[in-house]
Amino acid sequence: MTTLKFHGKVEGTTECERESSLLSAALQAPVPLTHRCGGHARCGTCIVTVEAGAEHLSPPGTAEARVLQVLKAAPDQRLACQAWANGDVSVRY
Ligand code: FES
Repeated sequence: MTTLKFHGKVEGTTECERESSLLSAALQAPVPLTHRCGGHARCGTCIVTVEAGAEHLSPPGTAEARVLQVLKAAPDQRLACQAWANGDVSVRY
């Protein structure tokens, strides 16, 4: 069981039995994480800052890396729709 925690306007925690994207976990929590393009790595509105558990996230793919570069994201920031967790993770949105 994986625990995913979201800190922001609304605090939220959810438990997932399988690997899950941070966005789908946020919707399950539920917390109001913006995701304007619907999870296609185009808008960047789902950006989050990873506070703990970065080692449990999938590495950024080409599409995510491109958006993060355009956004001038910090190394600890990820797109929730593209980052998949296979262990406990805590993020700020
Ligand atoms: S929802 Fe648009 S980039 Fe994640």
